[in-house]
Amino acid sequence: MTEMKALRSPDGTPYAPATLAVTAGRPHGQNQPVNSPITLTSTFHHAGTAQPGDSVYARFSNPSWDPLEATLAALEGAELPGLVYGSGMAAIAAALSLVPDGGTVIAPRACYNTTLTLMQQQEAKGRVRLVLLDVSDSDAVLAALAASPAPALFWLESPTNPLLEVADVPALLTAARAAGVTTVVDNTFATPLGMNPLALGADVVVHSMTKFLAGHSDVIMGGIVTDSPELRATLHGYRTVHGAISGGLDSYLALRGVRTLALRFERGCANAAVLAERLAADPRACNVRYPGLETDPGHARAAQHMRAFGAVLAFEPARAGQPSVERAEQVSASVALWTPATSLGGVESILERRRRHANEPLAVPEALVRLSVGIEDVEDLWRDLDRALGS
Ligand SMILES: Cc1ncc(COP(=O)(O)O)c(C=O)c1O
Repeated sequence: MTEMKALRSPDGTPYAPATLAVTAGRPHGQNQPVNSPITLTSTFHHAGTAQPGDSVYARFSNPSWDPLEATLAALEGAELPGLVYGSGMAAIAAALSLVPDGGTVIAPRACYNTTLTLMQQQEAKGRVRLVLLDVSDSDAVLAALAASPAPALFWLESPTNPLLEVADVPALLTAARAAGVTTVVDNTFATPLGMNPLALGADVVVHSMTKFLAGHSDVIMGGIVTDSPELRATLHGYRTVHGAISGGLDSYLALRGVRTLALRFERGCANAAVLAERLAADPRACNVRYPGLETDPGHARAAQHMRAFGAVLAFEPARAGQPSVERAEQVSASVALWTPATSLGGVESILERRRRHANEPLAVPEALVRLSVGIEDVEDLWRDLDRALGS
């Protein structure tokens, strides 16, 4: 493998996350390119029995993944390289496979809808027992952990998609570990710049790299990071056998996106904070959810264990002080600068009424609109939203 740039300065000082996003996984040394090349091959010249580290076939390993996997690990503070997958859901399916047949999965009652669909499908087949709860209710989670015989897996999303609920992440991960429960955190919303779940006690971190990491709505990819050699070997084996791999071009695009993560995320968070404040003061909006708002139920917790409040918020468009589905639909139909679309984490601002999706959890209010705030000028964003909300 190519030598890569060091993750700390020559005097030994570890680089900050914003520096790692730029420098991790970069080739180092005389005559090396500044960016790792894309390797477009399905197989490798290889005779004889494979030795560890050999390249044999591009579903097993691929040099196009290496710099991205190194960068993901560096950003999440892991020693072991990450693993990239063909989508966030491919990564989630791999992580969910860590619970053996007959085990229990404890998960948020409202989190990314397709994660829940996958869990519910496995429950319907009798593969797992599923316990869904409000992860911002620590007592409920602690009780479920205590009542779940091993083997069990605690699936955490925080802030949750799309309710932006904030769990007491360090306390719950510590309790799960003490109970011998494997923990997985979907860190897509917080990004590694906002939170590092491994440092807070998680066994496994998953990302939809489609979102903030890649950042330009031009690629679908997932990623996993763990510092357990056993879990990494299992996850690697799952990827090899199930084949949900990423192509070289997508891996290149995702890494190119990660290089600007710090700037994009900083601007997105700042814009989201301004919009959340304005919506919270606007009678055409109710139930604004953004952990950065001091009035938000998750604010104090988020301030304790997150470095940023994120670039996603949600609210319910209202008429006469009541949530209005009609007004929510009107917002989606009337925006000009915002894109009415699903997904999040790109440079462009996107919004949608989440319950338009048939598999959206019922805990999500009918009128709730989720906003993924991009890096445009915030006054342009507000003017467009203000106009779309109508009078
Ligand atoms: C929090 C979260 N996790 C996972 C996913 C799934 O990722 P992908 O669409 O890359 O498969 C999404 C997609 O919206 C998401 O929002």
